Amino acid sequence: MKGIEQRKAEHIMVTLEEDVASAHDYWNDVKLVHDALPDVDLDDVDTSTVLFGRKLSCPLMVTAITGGYPEAEKINRNLAEACANLRIGLGVGSQRPALERGARKSYEVVKDFDVPLKVGNIGAPQLVPQKRKRAFGTDDAHKAMEMIDADLLAIHLNFLQEIAQPEGDTRAKGCYDGIRSLSRELPIIVKETGAGISRRVAQRLKGIGVQGLDVAGAGGTSFSKVEGCRAARKGDRRCERIADTFAEWGIPAPVSVMWADVGLPIIASGGIQNGLQAAKGIAVGADCAGVARAVLRDALESSKAVEERLALIIEEMRIAMFLTGSRDVRELGRAEHIITGATGEWAGCEREI
Ligand SMILES: Cc1cc2nc3c(=O)[nH]c(=O)nc-3n(C[C@H](O)[C@H](O)[C@H](O)COP(=O)(O)O)c2cc1C
Repeated sequence: MKGIEQRKAEHIMVTLEEDVASAHDYWNDVKLVHDALPDVDLDDVDTSTVLFGRKLSCPLMVTAITGGYPEAEKINRNLAEACANLRIGLGVGSQRPALERGARKSYEVVKDFDVPLKVGNIGAPQLVPQKRKRAFGTDDAHKAMEMIDADLLAIHLNFLQEIAQPEGDTRAKGCYDGIRSLSRELPIIVKETGAGISRRVAQRLKGIGVQGLDVAGAGGTSFSKVEGCRAARKGDRRCERIADTFAEWGIPAPVSVMWADVGLPIIASGGIQNGLQAAKGIAVGADCAGVARAVLRDALESSKAVEERLALIIEEMRIAMFLTGSRDVRELGRAEHIITGATGEWAGCEREI
C-alpha cells in the first residue's frame, strides 16, 4: 500500500492506538433537566424519526470513517450490517481512492445491506485542482453516489487536517463554488470532520441549496492530533509542531449544533460516545446524532460487536428520553437543559459567529 491508501490505514491505526480525543468533553457541559414524573412508560418512548425522508428507528447514524484499502471492506461491511439491522444511517469514508484509483470494493460492500440512509463522501478540497491533482466534478459525484446507492452525498470540510499533513491539500478558494455546482444536481450535505461549523458558514451553505449539515464539532476525534501522531511516527517535526499547536482548535460540538441551526436538518457529532450525549445533541437542536470513533474498534472486530455497541447507545437514548419526560424525538428536541462550563461561555457569546 502507498499514498492515499496507506494514509487511510494509518488513520485507523493511529485513532485506535493513540489518544486522539480533544482534551475537553463539551457534551459533559450540557445537562438535561431530570423529570421525576414522566408521563410515559419507558417501553412506550418512541425513538423513531424521519431524516432526509428516510425512516430511522432512532435519530442516530455512523458518520464517515473509511474505505479504499483492503481492510476497509471488512470495516464497512460490519458497519453496514449493524446499521441495516438496527435501522439507522451510515456514511462511508472519503471515496477519493475509488474515484482516483478504482478502489471501489470496500465501498460497494455497503450495497449488500438494506441500510435505511446511506451517505457517500468526497472532500471539499477535491472540488478544486490541488497541486498536480485534477478537481472532481459532477460526474465524479454521481459515480460516488451510484457506488453505494447513496441517498445523499456528504462533502467534507477538513482544512484543519490538511494543514497538519506534509502532503495536505490547502487550496480552499473555489470549494464553495464547487459545492454550489454539485448542490444544483445532487442531494448534498456538508460535514466537518472535528472542528465544527459556524453560523456564518451554515448560512452560506444554506444559501446554495445544501440539504443538511453534520457539524462534527470539537470535543471528539481531533484530526490535528491524528495527523500529529502520524507526523511524530515519521519524524516530521514541523507537522508535529503545527498539529500540536492546533490540537484543540474548533467550535465545541454542542455550540456548533446551536450556531449552525439555520433551518436545515442538523447532525450533531464530534465526541459522541454514548446515548446520553446523543440525546443531548437532539436537545440542543439537532435532528440526528452521529458517531465515528465510538464504533471503530468494534468495526474491526465484527458486525455483532458494532450492533451491540450501537444498540446500547440507542437504549441509553431511550432512557435519556424517559428521564426527561420526552415521549418522542420531537419532545426530546424541546427537553429542558442547561449549558455550563466552557461550552456555556462559548454559547453565551452574543456575536453571531
Ligand atoms: C479513522 C477516521 C477516519 C475518518 N475519515 C473520514 C472521511 O474519510 N471523511 C469524512 O467526512 N470524515 C471522516 N472522519 C470524521 C468523522 O466522520 C467524524 O466527523 C469525526 O471523527 C468526529 O466524530 P467522532 O468524535 O465521533 O469520531 C473520520 C474519522 C475517523 C475516526
